[in-house]
Amino acid sequence: MLQWTTKNFILTYFFTLISTHEYLPINRIPEWKSKINGNIGPSFGQPEQIHLAYGGDPTSYSITWMTYDDTLKSIVEYGTDISDLEHSVEGRCAVFLDGQKHSVWRYIHRVNLTGLVPGTRYFYHVGSDHGWSPIFFFTALKEREDGGFIYAVYGDLGVENGRSLGHIQKMAQKGQLDMVLHVGDFAYNMDESNGETGDEFFRQIEPVAGYIPYMATVGNHEYYNNFTHYVNRFTMPNSEHNLFYSYDVGPVHFVVFSTEFYFYTQWGYHQMENQYNWLINDLKKANSNRHNIPWIITMGHRPMYCSDFDGDDCTKYESVIRTGLPLTHGYALEKLFYEYGVDVELWAHEHSYERLWPVYNRTVYNGTRHPYVDPPAPVHIITGSAGCRENTDVFVEHPPPWSAVRSTDYGFGVMRVYNSTHLNFKQINVAQEGKIDDDFWVVKSSPKHHRPFKHRDLKRLRTYGTHIPKHHCHHKSHCDKTRRRRKHSRHSHVEI
Ligand SMILES: [Fe+2]
Repeated sequence: MLQWTTKNFILTYFFTLISTHEYLPINRIPEWKSKINGNIGPSFGQPEQIHLAYGGDPTSYSITWMTYDDTLKSIVEYGTDISDLEHSVEGRCAVFLDGQKHSVWRYIHRVNLTGLVPGTRYFYHVGSDHGWSPIFFFTALKEREDGGFIYAVYGDLGVENGRSLGHIQKMAQKGQLDMVLHVGDFAYNMDESNGETGDEFFRQIEPVAGYIPYMATVGNHEYYNNFTHYVNRFTMPNSEHNLFYSYDVGPVHFVVFSTEFYFYTQWGYHQMENQYNWLINDLKKANSNRHNIPWIITMGHRPMYCSDFDGDDCTKYESVIRTGLPLTHGYALEKLFYEYGVDVELWAHEHSYERLWPVYNRTVYNGTRHPYVDPPAPVHIITGSAGCRENTDVFVEHPPPWSAVRSTDYGFGVMRVYNSTHLNFKQINVAQEGKIDDDFWVVKSSPKHHRPFKHRDLKRLRTYGTHIPKHHCHHKSHCDKTRRRRKHSRHSHVEI
């Protein structure tokens, strides 16, 4: 039996990379257990912050929760009858200190449930004999009787001023959502107040995440200590770090990645390189399986294009996310996603909603009657106005031509993927009592149209689209300044 002490934990913790979940040995003896006195136990054994995640296929879910003491056991009891939670599964416990001066020990418990029957409702509670949660329920993922799967999609939701949360909580509990896709920026910030803001955030989302999978993407607000709170608090499928991973739901292959590696380089460029190589392999595999799973949808926090008035990366002519690192264009994502035929790209970070016309290399496909039917380029959606203490962002007065629909009101997206050919996206405006700010379809006339974009797509894009050069004059108020600049930068456009 191992004697698990504070000292050997700290040695393990600080001399390994803080990039994956650090599990405690199963046969450990917690400090409270080492006393030869049965009256001594964990002081804080009550589970809290319960959240579900999709396990990578509909028969598998993970359940994660937190305690402030080591409870030794991490157990989920579940069943189809609320009065008879007949199954019991034991999981593992990881612990983390976030690196702050008065860091608090947080014990993160994870249990994987497997062998679930799609469409079946399960009741469950989590904990140990040192404390049990209330009973929650979830329905193992199955296509809806009236078609497809429904996702809440949003980013930038904070503890304070989380304006969309009540709407999402209600929809989740009433069975109107199958999953949440949170596209970065949580809590504002998880590390603040010695991590208590993170704890409060997970308590606030429990009325959602206790009932449906809550799927995460990392954002800039999670940067503290190499994303330690984000890495340690979530349990995403096919990953031990949650920073980049992929999974399939029905006809969709979801690809989640970190845009933050491009900006927080103090922890090394290797994170960017590892992720880029992983993206290539994952997209290759996804394309070889497109006859089974046709849609490819990406999620990254910071967008490539936008029309916000804030000087963010997406407002730049050569956005780093779009064209890669300065000068070298290393790890550029727009070209990669185009070559592998990504259908839809979900973003946040801008505290607003914006739908783009199909676009590639600043060429906007807006010259046909049905631009979203078999578009020759990916469709970008930015939905980062769920609500946080930083309020909403302001748009430039005259939007550039890639901007199709935009709103600066608080709200969140609801995406429904009906089948292999039809995807619907709505933006719900919570500032105006649920008014629909946008409602549009992306349509593939045949499942075969899900494929890497080819030369003929580029030809359509050039024939019916509009290329936007660096100093394109899209409104007369910009033109004088534009003409002067153009003389000096006529050849500065980068061909991709
Ligand atoms: Fe952000």
